[in-house]
Amino acid sequence: MSKIKPFVKWAGGKTQLIKKLDEYFPKFEGTYYEPFLGGGAVFFHLQPEKAVLSDTNAELINLFQVIQKKPEALMSRLDEHQLKVQDKEYFLDVRAWDLSKLDDIEQAARTIYLNKTCFNGLYRVNSKGQFNVPFGKTPQGNPPKLYLKENIEACSQALKNAEIICEDFSETVNKTKPEDFVYLDPPYHAPNKASMYSKVAYSDDLQDRVAQFYHDLAKTGAKVMLNNSATLEILKDSHTSIKNLYENKNYTVKVLDSKWSIGAIGDWRGKRAELMIINY
Ligand SMILES: C[S@@+](CC[C@H](N)C(=O)[O-])C[C@H]1O[C@@H](n2cnc3c(N)ncnc32)[C@H](O)[C@@H]1O
Repeated sequence: MSKIKPFVKWAGGKTQLIKKLDEYFPKFEGTYYEPFLGGGAVFFHLQPEKAVLSDTNAELINLFQVIQKKPEALMSRLDEHQLKVQDKEYFLDVRAWDLSKLDDIEQAARTIYLNKTCFNGLYRVNSKGQFNVPFGKTPQGNPPKLYLKENIEACSQALKNAEIICEDFSETVNKTKPEDFVYLDPPYHAPNKASMYSKVAYSDDLQDRVAQFYHDLAKTGAKVMLNNSATLEILKDSHTSIKNLYENKNYTVKVLDSKWSIGAIGDWRGKRAELMIINY
């Protein structure tokens, strides 16, 4: 199993938390499900034989599908973008491209290019779905590298047998069996409705929907791990209430410390409490 890094930086990415989660991942014989895929840090860490990976962000899902099936074509296109990674005018031009007029490889290359050259690796779109993060200036002589060949190849190999789908998380519950493992990393409970991952702002009831989903999944007999988090200082009450959604059931609820490094709003950075809920 090769050591793999996610090919995009993604808000809420779990790379830094993996060491802490490692001792809690279960043994399982069936399929691995990850319905809030993001950058896929946990999938790439576990590299399961059988996997179903999904997210509602169509651009992200296209990127995973291209990495899976057309890594060479993607890397050639990225080599062209690489020549202009410090050119702000080029960035603004690429950012304004109309996604609907691009083929799958063009779209995927643009997604990686923007992710690596924008401010802080943030993904944010406006109400029309247009990417709107500003250019992230880097010091001359230190240009961002869009990809590492060995890493893209290893990602593609790990994804070889995976089913990659653009759909709402709720679809997963109809598919899981007792021998499966489901890893859930929903969007954070945020104090305002800043849309971090898609043009759709999150409705207030998202955390309730996720909790109900968790209970339904647990009833199928599958093993389920969920992470959720909140800034300790700002969201004390919300954090408590998220925790309440999972208490008084036969689950193990743990609070793990974590740091969060991507954020549109300065106040969100800093110490966060990461919640972990398992039913096994
Ligand atoms: C916290 S991120 C996951 C981060 C990921 N674990 C990683 O390591 O990069 C949450 C993801 O949930 C996705 N998402 C938001 N609403 C969703 C929904 N209703 N169904 C499925 N995915 C959704 C977002 O697009 C985002 O990629």
